[in-house]
Amino acid sequence: MCGIVAYIGSRPAFPVILKGLKRLEYRGYDSSGIALFGEEVACFKRKGRVAELEAWTESVTATAHVGIGHTRWATHGEPSDANAHPHTSNSGRLTLVHNGIIENYASLKQELIAKGYTFKSETDTEVLVNFIEEIQQKNESTLEEAMRIALKRVVGAYVIIVMEEGFPERLIAARKGSPLVIGVGEGEHFLASDASPIIEYTKRVIYVNDYELAIISKDEIILKNLGNEPITPYIQQLDMELAQIEKGGYDHFMLKEIFDQPASLTDCLRGRLDMENLSLTLKGVEDHLSVFTQAKRIVIVACGTSWHAGLVAEYMIETLCRIPVEVEYASEFRYRNPVIGPGDVIIAISQSGETADTLVAIERAKEQGAFIFGVVNAVGSSIARLSHSGAYTHAGPEIGVASTKAFTAQLTVLAMMAMKIGKEKGTLSSDEYNRYLAELAQIPAKVEKTLATHEQVKAVAAYYAEARDFLFLGRGYNFPVALEGALKLKEISYIHAEGYPAAEMKHGPIALVDENLPVLFIATQDAYYEKIVSNIQEIKARKGKVIAVVTEGDTLISSMADHVLEVPAVDELLAPLLSVLPTQLLSYYIGVLRGLDVDKPRNLAKSVTVE
Ligand code: F6R
Repeated sequence: MCGIVAYIGSRPAFPVILKGLKRLEYRGYDSSGIALFGEEVACFKRKGRVAELEAWTESVTATAHVGIGHTRWATHGEPSDANAHPHTSNSGRLTLVHNGIIENYASLKQELIAKGYTFKSETDTEVLVNFIEEIQQKNESTLEEAMRIALKRVVGAYVIIVMEEGFPERLIAARKGSPLVIGVGEGEHFLASDASPIIEYTKRVIYVNDYELAIISKDEIILKNLGNEPITPYIQQLDMELAQIEKGGYDHFMLKEIFDQPASLTDCLRGRLDMENLSLTLKGVEDHLSVFTQAKRIVIVACGTSWHAGLVAEYMIETLCRIPVEVEYASEFRYRNPVIGPGDVIIAISQSGETADTLVAIERAKEQGAFIFGVVNAVGSSIARLSHSGAYTHAGPEIGVASTKAFTAQLTVLAMMAMKIGKEKGTLSSDEYNRYLAELAQIPAKVEKTLATHEQVKAVAAYYAEARDFLFLGRGYNFPVALEGALKLKEISYIHAEGYPAAEMKHGPIALVDENLPVLFIATQDAYYEKIVSNIQEIKARKGKVIAVVTEGDTLISSMADHVLEVPAVDELLAPLLSVLPTQLLSYYIGVLRGLDVDKPRNLAKSVTVE
């Protein structure tokens, strides 16, 4: 959460940083700010979106070639001009942007207050900048030394970029637990929370690691650890195009990303699924095959939508591989002293690869000897790097705050893993394996066919846009889809929505049903079909409004439901890949009809780098 950008070079820094902040706004959008280093440091910051900062600074002609910027998701202190970053130290010598949380900020603040420091904001960041200043003044040290000392005392997560009066030719950055990428240009350098503000200028990047300090001038990058030992920077080539992070004619990123799915799933399968030779290549699994085939247990850790993908994977892996699977909220797992050890495989699922809870959960499991496999979208992200092995989902950048194409790509990777491991373990016969491969190969085309029904979904959305509550019900593989449908609706439309296993209705939630309650059933043809038909009857008997996602040509449910949304027939193991699509579209259209900012829902941010 929070996005940071910095520039040092020969271009005017202001437009580069402003544009970068717009690209990073998905990480937080309650206030933003830019500090420029011209003759002296000038700071512009404001509550609200980056567009408000832009309008407010319209008349500013800033020629400075060095600057830092920040777009905030509030943690300490409400969104306000004062709490917006950058923050400046009491003397005015240091100006800093920060992404993360300084957990021991309260005690550091008391120390500083006792020494006469005053604070204009409620943020942990203002404490940090003054703490660095205090150490620098007390030790009469360089900024670099002061940062090393200060950061050893800081508890929490951070990426910081610091400017120092009198040193306009240099920025110093440091990271622990939050992401930082350096873009390497010719006579210019860029720093950002992810590569999206950088790719327009250069595709050569360095991913900074935890406990590293980067001293950046326009011609040089020096990396050191906190022990002051030099580190050789590893420059990588980005495999990303500018078009991937733009809306490409769609009204919103969310809609673009929903419609990206035939292509993103093709990318996900590319080089892995080979229908000519009836084979699957998943190098990250193959390199550690015995770890999986001999696993005593698989524990999946994730948050939010990625956790829902994990729930589907539980069904897939238990069915095809006969390995017990547990699916854990990373935030709970990390704090409850779980029993983990050698022989356990942890699968961490994350779009961003930076989710703080997931990251710490796998750190803990790694310490206890578990094997960590990352299913991650963002290449080079922290979770990808911390894992022993993994498989990228290759969904491309996901900018809309609500996860859509990342979810289906996660499901695809997890399905491939289950098929591969099941085949190798002998729990999946060759015939069944080949049948699944054939089903998988058809998925992108079936996704495209499902999305072609968007006008029908839009019509249903118009019908229910004013609903106050919503229930989503499913069974088996479609139960996690019900949870995901409810999550998507509440985050995009602010309608209260709950997902349940359909059979759980009669244990309580059915009391909610009346003629005003829309109940969305995920009722594709699978092993539970007849059971779910009965559940639909139970809702209709209580006058609930039923929307059903059904398999094409289903006449039985069509005769009972108020609205049906069709998806092509598919094996139940892969059904979530299709049945989730109408729920994504429904949330999107309802959100738009309610006049909401679907790409940036209130209170949310894309990459949750705080716990
Ligand atoms: C919901 C959503 C979130 C994320 C969650 C985990 O649409 O996007 O629930 O799924 O914050 O994020 P990642 O997958 O980046 O670890």
